[in-house]
Amino acid sequence: MTAAGFNQPEIPNLAFAQAEPAFVPGSAWHQHGPFALWLTQVLRPKRFVELGSHAGYSYFCVCQAVQASGLDTKCFAIDTWQGDEHAGNYGEEVYQQVSAHNQRYAVFSTMIRATFDDALPRFEDKSIDLLHVDGRHFYDDVKHDFESWRPKLTDDAIILFHDTQVRERNFGVLQYFTELQRENPTFEFLHGHGLGIMANKSVPPALQPLFAAKGQAVDVWRSAFASLGQTVTQRWDLQAPARDSEKRKKRWRHSLDKRWRAVSQLFAGTGRR
Ligand SMILES: C[S@@+](CC[C@H](N)C(=O)[O-])C[C@H]1O[C@@H](n2cnc3c(N)ncnc32)[C@H](O)[C@@H]1O
Repeated sequence: MTAAGFNQPEIPNLAFAQAEPAFVPGSAWHQHGPFALWLTQVLRPKRFVELGSHAGYSYFCVCQAVQASGLDTKCFAIDTWQGDEHAGNYGEEVYQQVSAHNQRYAVFSTMIRATFDDALPRFEDKSIDLLHVDGRHFYDDVKHDFESWRPKLTDDAIILFHDTQVRERNFGVLQYFTELQRENPTFEFLHGHGLGIMANKSVPPALQPLFAAKGQAVDVWRSAFASLGQTVTQRWDLQAPARDSEKRKKRWRHSLDKRWRAVSQLFAGTGRR
C-alpha cells in the first residue's frame, strides 16, 4: 500500500510483455504489440482469428507469443490484402511479404485471402476464443464484422477492437465500443489510437485482474502498457534513417534500370541501321 492508501495492483506475468515484437512493419497498431504478446501468453487461446491483418504487425505479435510459449493455438489471418478506405489501397507486394513471414509460423498459422463474410462458413460456431476486429472502421462495418462473427465465439472469448479513440474520417469504433461497454465486461487502453477489450459472456480467469481493475488501478494498467508500447514506437523512429536509405536505394536502382533499358534500346536501334 502507498502513502496515499492505494493498493498498487500487480500485473501478472508482466515479463511476457517485455519481449520485443520481432516483426515490425508499418502499422497504427505498434503500441499494442507488448499487450498482444502478454495477452496471448496469459490467455493461451485455442483459436485466434484476426479480421484485418494488412502488413501483419498485430497478427505476428500473437504468432510470436504462440511460438515463444509453445502454445497449441491455431491462428488465422483474414484479409483481402487489397486495402480499404481507411487503411488505403495497397499492392500485391504486401500480401507477398506477409506470406513470406508467415512461413516461420506455418505449422499453426493460416492466411485466408477472402472477405470476412466469405470466410465465415469456414469456422464452426463457438470455436474462437480470441478475435481481433480490425477491418474497415466505419460504424456499420465494425458492428457488422463483430455481430456476424459473434456466433463463432466461445462464451469466454476475448475480443479486441482497435482505434476506439479515433475521432476522424468517420471512424465508428468509438461509438460502437461505447454501446458494447454498457452490456459487456470491457477494458480500454487509451494509447495507440485506443484498444477496446471485451469478454464475450464470462471473463476468463487469466484476465480477471485486468477486468476487475477500478479507479487508480485502471491507470496503472494503462500506463504500464502505454510505456511498453512507446518502446516499439521509439525503435520504429530510430530505424527511420535506415528505412529511408533503403527506399532511396530502391528508387536509385529502379531509375538506373530504366536508363540502362533506354540506352540499350538506343544501341539496338543504331545496330539495325
Ligand atoms: C486497419 S488494417 C489492419 C491493420 C493490422 N491489424 C495491423 O496490425 O496493422 C485493415 C485491413 O482490413 C482489410 N479489410 C477491410 N475490410 C475487409 C473485409 N470486409 N474483408 C476482408 N478484409 C478487409 C483491409 O484490406 C486492411 O488490410
